Amino acid sequence: MDRVTFTLNGVKHSVGNEVSSTTTLLDYIRKVAELRGTKYMCKEAGCGACIVSYSRPSDDAAFGRHIVQGVNACMVSITSCQDWEISTIEHIGNRLQGYHPLQVTLARDNGTQCGYCSPGWVMAMYSLLSTRPRTIFEIENDLSSNICRCTGYRPILDAFKKFGSDAPINSLIDIEDLKLCDKIIHKKKCPDNNKKDLNEDWYVITKEEVSSKVIHLKLHDDRIWYRVEMVNDIFNIFMEEGTDSYMLINGNTGKGVVNILEYPRLLIDISNVWELQGHYIDQNLVIGAGTTLTKVMQIFQDVSEDEYFAYLRVLSEHLELVAHIPVRNIGTVAGNLMVKHRYPEFQSDIFLLLSTVGAELTILHGPGLTEIVPMEHFLQFDMTGKVILNILFPPLNNQYKLWTHKIMPRAQNAHAYVNCGFLYKLESTTNKVLECRIAYGGLSPFFTRALLTESHIVGKSLFLNETLQEVLSVLDEELDGAVVPMPPNPSVQYRKQVALALFYKGLLALAPQNLVSPHYVTGAIKEHATRPLSSGQQEFDTDPKVYPLNKPIPKLEGIIQCAGEAKYTEDIPTLPGEVYACFVLTTVPRGRIVNIDPSRALERPGVIAFYSAKDIPGVNSFIPVVTKYRKLIRENEELLCDGDVKYFNQPLGIVVAETEILAELAATLVHVTYTDVKEPVIDIKVAKRDMSRNIFFVNIPATKVSPDIHQIISGEITIYTQYHFSMETLCCVSRPTEEGIKTYASTQWIDAVQDMTSRALKIDAGRIDVSVRRLGGAYGIKISRNTQQAVACNLVVYKLNRPCRFIQSLRTNMRAVGKRLPCSVDFEAGVNKEGVIQFINFVLYSDNGYIYNENLSDLGKDVYYNCYDQAPWNYTCFNTLTDTASNTWCRAPGTLENIISAEMVMEQIAYELGLDPLQVRLANLDRAKHNAIQEMTDTIMVKSNYKERRKHVDNFNEENRWKKRGFRFTLMKWSPYGTFYYEVNLSVFHQDGSVIISHGGVEMGQGINTKAIQICAYYFGIPVDMIQVKRNDTVTTPNGFTTAGSLTSQNIGIGVQKCCEELLRRLAPIRARLGNPTWVELIRAAFDADLSLQTHGLLNASDEENIDVYGVTLAEVEIDVLTGEHEIIRVDLIEDTGRSLNPVIDVGQVEGAFIMGLGYWTCERMVYDPQTGEVLSDHTWEYHVPQARDIPQDFRVYFRKGSFSTPRALGAKVVGEPATCMAVSVPLALREAITSARTDSGIPSTVWYEIDGPYSVENIYLNCATIKEQFKFY
Ligand SMILES: Cc1cc2nc3c(=O)[nH]c(=O)nc-3n(C[C@H](O)[C@H](O)[C@H](O)COP(=O)(O)OP(=O)(O)OC[C@H]3O[C@@H](n4cnc5c(N)ncnc54)[C@H](O)[C@@H]3O)c2cc1C
Ligand code: FES
Ligand code: FES
Repeated sequence: MDRVTFTLNGVKHSVGNEVSSTTTLLDYIRKVAELRGTKYMCKEAGCGACIVSYSRPSDDAAFGRHIVQGVNACMVSITSCQDWEISTIEHIGNRLQGYHPLQVTLARDNGTQCGYCSPGWVMAMYSLLSTRPRTIFEIENDLSSNICRCTGYRPILDAFKKFGSDAPINSLIDIEDLKLCDKIIHKKKCPDNNKKDLNEDWYVITKEEVSSKVIHLKLHDDRIWYRVEMVNDIFNIFMEEGTDSYMLINGNTGKGVVNILEYPRLLIDISNVWELQGHYIDQNLVIGAGTTLTKVMQIFQDVSEDEYFAYLRVLSEHLELVAHIPVRNIGTVAGNLMVKHRYPEFQSDIFLLLSTVGAELTILHGPGLTEIVPMEHFLQFDMTGKVILNILFPPLNNQYKLWTHKIMPRAQNAHAYVNCGFLYKLESTTNKVLECRIAYGGLSPFFTRALLTESHIVGKSLFLNETLQEVLSVLDEELDGAVVPMPPNPSVQYRKQVALALFYKGLLALAPQNLVSPHYVTGAIKEHATRPLSSGQQEFDTDPKVYPLNKPIPKLEGIIQCAGEAKYTEDIPTLPGEVYACFVLTTVPRGRIVNIDPSRALERPGVIAFYSAKDIPGVNSFIPVVTKYRKLIRENEELLCDGDVKYFNQPLGIVVAETEILAELAATLVHVTYTDVKEPVIDIKVAKRDMSRNIFFVNIPATKVSPDIHQIISGEITIYTQYHFSMETLCCVSRPTEEGIKTYASTQWIDAVQDMTSRALKIDAGRIDVSVRRLGGAYGIKISRNTQQAVACNLVVYKLNRPCRFIQSLRTNMRAVGKRLPCSVDFEAGVNKEGVIQFINFVLYSDNGYIYNENLSDLGKDVYYNCYDQAPWNYTCFNTLTDTASNTWCRAPGTLENIISAEMVMEQIAYELGLDPLQVRLANLDRAKHNAIQEMTDTIMVKSNYKERRKHVDNFNEENRWKKRGFRFTLMKWSPYGTFYYEVNLSVFHQDGSVIISHGGVEMGQGINTKAIQICAYYFGIPVDMIQVKRNDTVTTPNGFTTAGSLTSQNIGIGVQKCCEELLRRLAPIRARLGNPTWVELIRAAFDADLSLQTHGLLNASDEENIDVYGVTLAEVEIDVLTGEHEIIRVDLIEDTGRSLNPVIDVGQVEGAFIMGLGYWTCERMVYDPQTGEVLSDHTWEYHVPQARDIPQDFRVYFRKGSFSTPRALGAKVVGEPATCMAVSVPLALREAITSARTDSGIPSTVWYEIDGPYSVENIYLNCATIKEQFKFY
């Protein structure tokens, strides 16, 4: 039997019938080769964590050399890797052979926090540089393949820009030092390399050259795999095997668009069929349909030098917005078109572009049997047993004008909400339309061309106001009914209106510029296209006298994180006899389970067991018992549904199988019947009106009501949810031990996992050991929510007495698990002429999901009035129930909802009274308590050059109709909350005086370990590299509370101080006896004197240091009124961090928190089916966190000078969460821009309007209230 051979990190490997069709390169690297440095999250090419470098012969011909590129290992079937040379993070640098400069620089520049994304970033960058040198700008632009949820991108970009070909001389790294691809790249002599003739790029295959090598495999899951090199072989295989169930495999990235759990029976790898690749010009430009998008872009750039193909430059620019480089490196044109063919709702940019320019497809029915199919017939064309051979691009002379655009939820790497392409053939002198094509995507699965409008426009002079209005009316009518709901995409209203606006925008861009009035001219500009290179500044003081406290040192685990050597939960090697578990989810929102039938799942070979609630020996709950330190939790939550369904996709059972993918597949085969199914209430705005759903929490009455009432202002503020998006999803690996169970869990709270395993399995806590080394991001989701999955994992271990690995897929994570609490506020305020609140009734409803359990409302009790005078606030808070998953803590829980609501109130007062919002804020400021805020505001005023920029923004808005700017200050007082209990142990080794610390905190990117080491080094006067922090384990640090609330670093720091102080006390007599010993001498002498070199510190309620944090932010933004897109021009942010323990780590926390808040306010949009409550935005294709080109163009962070908190906190303040609240400056700045557009539409700025949820492109566009009659050239 054949085998597929490839090299991995220089070592030859081969695979055959032992692998399945679903075994990816990622699976192979991690599970077979046990190279766990490569990480993963989404398994759909949406996060970049799994990027590796590869080279393959099929890329050689096009590039003329052995090219190394990046690829998402999660996309590639291992059986596609014939002749590939693959490099992983371990290969490019490691502790044995030395680290790679990219790894070192990323770590040194604080480009890593939790570190889970870091290997992916390094490999993406390594691959970019291996392909060719890049400028700084290109580096920033080309990294859209990767997500980092922790850092906010700025430090990653700063680190990598040092490798730009145009980087300043002092940061330039010698290219030789990069050792790029030296292990795998070897330039081949390609006969075509220097030839200029375009036709010669078409690779003509001779029989002798290829001799049609076919690889044939029968895979482990009974799939048949062929790898062919000639088109005829495809048809031969079709003849032999049939076409009832088959798939051609090119890049295999189509599964990133539509998930594949199970492949068809017959799989034919055509990625090496040379007849499907390359290009030539034969009147038309003919491009092989199997050409990758990367190569197509290169062909477009080359061929566009020919005047008849100059239009290809426009297509190439558009292709920059299709997916990202690693997907484009293997994804092909044909693959894209066929995904569109099978799923017409897919907003394919390729289909759109080909439709716009009138391209045609050559389709092969069989050997030599071709048919030319125009794009307009393609979707209806029966493609069974057929192959797209090539694409014909027509020559277009300069009478043709082309414009395309794509509206996405963020700047890069997202599918289109709406995309469009307009092609006009114009009579040169009169601008009369001779021909035209008006193509749209994203409006409906089948509406692709506005044919009526096209025929109407022909013969008209294009750039006249009258023509425009007339054609817009025709288009408006044509789109009526044609645009259909496509959830989770934006509303019909938005997509239809924006389609009209895009038509206008395209004409503004194509019109002779002397014809367009200056007032409208910026309407032609694409919002993101003008974005400059981003930059950042960070200003803080440090005091060398107290070093290593307050010293800006990079995170100490940074380098092992960037090298893939840092271990996370799922990096534990495969254990003998290991099984995989997966939740089965309910498929009704509310109702009763009548019967669960797992037989179809259990029939599948490799499926081992199914468990439901009745299999739990103890309590059916994953919530630990309430204690003094756990007062924020209230009651049990079901581990598995007990029969009464609470929400759509509640876990009801566990399937166990031999592989992860089989467990996932089997979970879909469990048949469940329900009765008494009810429609859910999922919206807090609806639920809060039903008093039976509201649980009164607190009323804090006003202490002073003043009579100077000039106006009563009332409103409703509603903000929705946010998914945590930790790059490491919830996962757990457990195994049986002599006495019970050992659990490695991705948890912020090991004690809860131990407690709940003990309660659910009815075994003593002491028999269960729980351990965590570090987390790949958490932001709250791993406080209580991971416990459900960890206890389920332990149930499997208990039942089967076998190790179990439970990795929750991103989709299950997003569907089954609660998120940030949505909240809705009703308020009524009486204000005086200056906007000072005289009284305010403020009622906040917090959406807890189906159960009121995790008490977030407590966290808002000290911040609902923010930094303003608390006296007039009559505050009431309800916990509201909706039929959704139990919501949970998410970065700045409770505080964020309250603080931003107070900021919204200030804003509304300012608008309705026509006052300056900053003055309203300062007039309400409680100066007696929070005067620091005035000082910090003054600092930002100066640093930001506020007054001049304010004028500039006002002038800009006067002068421009279609671009608007906004400029907003927001203020913040943030109060930490919590009572915590942690153990800290410190041991010194007698041999050399080296120190280890184990503590009850969890490292998740916040730098808790680095800070603990700095404190210890300070007390002992020893270098930081003599100190190590070990994993958190219930054996060494039992009974600990969760790592949360920003306070844990501070508390562990206090615990380390206690340990150090205790040891120093013990050592004092010996030190005195020895005079001035070195540390090593002192320790050895103490050991000889039988002194214990181990100390212990307990942190408890008596150590609480809850110190207010202040912040002031100023954001400047710009919106595109015609699309709803925005850019953040600049943010100035000052935070009072006290005397930071480590300013560079804290800058990272502030920037990362701000960008997470930014996502919440702009592009992160959870969408539910209103009828069922099903989560529709359950993966990276539909849920968009900010990426590198969504952050402020210019981001300046300052720490307040001269601040010192308390000696116990060593002068520092907490940093992890507060800046999340400061991002509210962005929506408020956006609101100013929107308001300016509304004013131009005739709506006075004093008219308040509610915007619920994020300021998405849809919300921005619709609230600008533009009507098509306002679209004009002059
Ligand atoms: C993260 C991500 C982001 C993306 N973003 C965008 C985007 O912004 N815009 C956009 O338009 N697209 C986007 N895509 C889609 C991407 O362009 C396609 O996945 C890719 O082009 C598919 O090519 P492939 O070679 O990988 O196809 P494969 O996955 O290998 O195949 C897909 C289908 O095509 C069929 N097929 C392949 N070749 C042929 C052929 N020659 N003849 C007949 N049938 C064939 C196969 O049978 C299969 O059914 C994105 C994809 C991902 C994963
Ligand atoms: S796991 Fe491959 S890109 Fe996310
Ligand atoms: S450091 Fe990037 S996701 Fe945590």
